[in-house]
Amino acid sequence: MSHIAYVNGRYVPQQNAQVHIEDRGYQFADGIYEVIFLWNGCPVDYAAHLQRLSRSLNELEIPAPMSWAALTVVIKEVLRRNRLTTGIVYIQINRGVAPRNHAFSRALRPSVVVTVKHGAGPSEAVANKGVKVVSAPDIRWARRDVKSVALLPNILAKQVAAEAKAFEAILYTPTGIVTEASASNVWIVGKDKTLVTHPATEDILGGITRATIIKLARASGYKVTERPFTVKEMRAAKEVFLTGTTTFVMPVIQIDQHTVANGASGEFALDLRQRYTDYMNNSNPKTAWNV
Ligand code: PDD
Repeated sequence: MSHIAYVNGRYVPQQNAQVHIEDRGYQFADGIYEVIFLWNGCPVDYAAHLQRLSRSLNELEIPAPMSWAALTVVIKEVLRRNRLTTGIVYIQINRGVAPRNHAFSRALRPSVVVTVKHGAGPSEAVANKGVKVVSAPDIRWARRDVKSVALLPNILAKQVAAEAKAFEAILYTPTGIVTEASASNVWIVGKDKTLVTHPATEDILGGITRATIIKLARASGYKVTERPFTVKEMRAAKEVFLTGTTTFVMPVIQIDQHTVANGASGEFALDLRQRYTDYMNNSNPKTAWNV
């Protein structure tokens, strides 16, 4: 079955889907995106993803292309046409089409694309074993809180990871602060059993999964601190794990050549992964769409 994509008002077979060569998303990466997980027909943290989408648009001064209610109708129709029950929904909004010029007109009509990808995230077996990651310098711009499609530094870092047969690339600043990973947020568990993750400043993407895990962890009695930590501190941590829409909670057992603690998946990370799965299972598919 060919995938069906939504492209600027039309539902089209993905292999025939086209965007204009003067779309500013294509020429300048002048656009933003969201990735939402659909779990057994239920979108995970839908309202929070739309809020972040809205925020990214505002920060880049791209007008909303349609109401959120209308976008929800579009997303549901794309899901229906692709018979997607578990997988990801990708939404991209670009500033619009115009003859190439760095400055933009405020009158442009934003372009909208919605696509899907079937399949669950990394398996339980992968999480139980834990993953290896690499570390790489964070060479991104100063507004990482905006979920922009300008992902060159992220893809280059992820490629380093892929070629090292590693799951992710953890990014660090020139002063040795761990910001996040190429497509997920990074957490450590300190010797005092406190969970630590970088604060949601302009230096990282404020992950929706990160925010949910903070809530779930606190509700389960874990201590959570949002503060920067260094590569050195991460190496000495009791546990290291990643969170993200397609990652859920993923224990890290090796960073470059360094083994984390005893080299086994951390118990806090596995417990939080289970709590996150329970959270997804207990979401109500009817009210989950409310925005
Ligand atoms: N990535 N940090 C970065 C740089 C990311 O790209 C992502 C998500 C996250 C985690 O955010 P969330 O929990 O909201 O997914 C953190 C998505 C999945 C992607 O680009 O495909």
